[in-house]
Amino acid sequence: MPIRDDLTCVKVEIDDEGIAWVTFNRPEKRNAMNPTLHYEMEEVLMALETDPAAKVIVITGAGNSWSAGMDLREYFRETDNNPEAQFTSFTANKHWSWDILHNSRKPSIAMVNGYLFGGAFVALANCDIVVTAEDAVYGLSEINWGIIPGGIVSKVIVDKMPFRNAMFYSMTGRTFDGRKAVEMNLADIAVPADKLREETVALARELMEKSPVALAFTKQAIRNVVNMDVPQAYEYLMTKIQALQFMDKEKTRNRGMEEFLDKKTYRPGLEAVSKEEDS
Ligand code: ACO
Repeated sequence: MPIRDDLTCVKVEIDDEGIAWVTFNRPEKRNAMNPTLHYEMEEVLMALETDPAAKVIVITGAGNSWSAGMDLREYFRETDNNPEAQFTSFTANKHWSWDILHNSRKPSIAMVNGYLFGGAFVALANCDIVVTAEDAVYGLSEINWGIIPGGIVSKVIVDKMPFRNAMFYSMTGRTFDGRKAVEMNLADIAVPADKLREETVALARELMEKSPVALAFTKQAIRNVVNMDVPQAYEYLMTKIQALQFMDKEKTRNRGMEEFLDKKTYRPGLEAVSKEEDS
């Protein structure tokens, strides 16, 4: 499914290496998420999911913000008396930022370049890996204008952050920076702002060296065992590992064994096995 070239709130570019750069593109509104942005993100993520040129998805924001959260005017006030419009845009929001992103087979990286508030925490939580600028500004600002972290935000923050921090930052609305986000497990790597893109590209390249199907199965496994008990997780993972052998047409596992045990050409503890086309 090709991506339209007349999107107004999201910019997409797939580079030669296979990194799909998805940029929230309303810098004059600090990339606040209005209904159009949600519809466009649904469309873009569905298209990237089935585009073989897109190997890693990086989500970032134009200007000085990742996203200032939901658009207070267009997403909230303008739909307050229009239940149909509210249902449509709220559902589109959940669809892309939860269902599609959470279940995507492609690796996703949030590259957090600046302000990140409120409802934007859901998309952040559903990216697989988060690289943040050290000076990015995060905030659960809902309390400052009289609502709770709704739209599933409270759920994602208690799942991702230590409970005490989730409570403290939602009750005070205080902001925190990228370093603190790493300390609280909301982000993986914090780097100076001028290194953000370079670090993200290095990480994306590292992911692209892996078997795409093994990577997809790994992220699904990690996400899905969270809500299972041990017997369920064991059964699920034993089945999943068998399914991977069936789904991996490049036979990465067999090639890895052969190259390590017989040819002695690499060490799986330290690097990825060659791709089928290189071997
Ligand atoms: N919704 C709608 N418009 C927004 C939002 C938003 N969430 N955030 C920023 N904007 C708009 C402003 O209204 C302004 O528009 P205007 O130029 O037409 O007046 C423009 O973006 C620039 O905003 P400023 O406040 O002037 O930018 P500044 O750089 O000084 O501050 C900041 C940026 C800190 C992000 C500030 O705009 C802000 O506090 N935004 C609200 C953040 C927030 O509380 N988000 C949570 C929303 S609730 C939720 O997501 C569930």
